[in-house]
Amino acid sequence: MKIHNLTEKPSILNTFISELRDASIQKDRMRFRKNIERIGEIFSYELSKSLAFERKVVTTPLGNHASELPQNNIVICSILRAGLPLHIGLLNYFDRADSAFISAYRKHNQDQPSTFKIKVEYLACPNLNGKTLILADPMLATGQSIISVLKALEPYGMPEEIHLVSIIGALPGVTYISEQLPQNVHLWIGAIDKELNNRSYIVPGLGDAGDLSFGEKLQQ
Ligand code: URA
Repeated sequence: MKIHNLTEKPSILNTFISELRDASIQKDRMRFRKNIERIGEIFSYELSKSLAFERKVVTTPLGNHASELPQNNIVICSILRAGLPLHIGLLNYFDRADSAFISAYRKHNQDQPSTFKIKVEYLACPNLNGKTLILADPMLATGQSIISVLKALEPYGMPEEIHLVSIIGALPGVTYISEQLPQNVHLWIGAIDKELNNRSYIVPGLGDAGDLSFGEKLQQ
């Protein structure tokens, strides 16, 4: 797996990620979602540089211009529900892309609440054969969701390229998925934090991205 850590070199992206982490700013739910969306736009721009382009001629009022434009074979897949604002940000730039949605949640073990299995229940996806698949999951904690989701997508066809997009990852999760996935998969990530706590939340991370975007849910 090829890792592209977008904050290795400081940029305006640092401002948006640091606002997501800041416990006083993240109380503003609309700003939280908007920052994730803005980060999605930055990811789109950065990862677009690695895509296939084709020459197209456009006619201006004064002549012709040949432009190198990205091929339109992109499917953006988001993991519900935390992936939604990131999905919108990616779609703002890749506005002709198809979309796929998949639900994945942690089903905690009743006897040992710190352990869980990933349950995938809802899946709506176009044909992925030969496509460029962009899989958006804002928090890459253990890496189990990404691996479960890629497995669940297998019956929909073989993408030509796979790009994973995460805002914050934990080192154990990044290591786990890099061991599971082939070399040609790309991971675009905003920050890699050191560890997970005993509930598999990223530390220091930002908390629960789904709850901060949409409100707390009842635990199952
Ligand atoms: N999901 C989140 O929203 N936050 C984490 O730290 C881990 C998973």
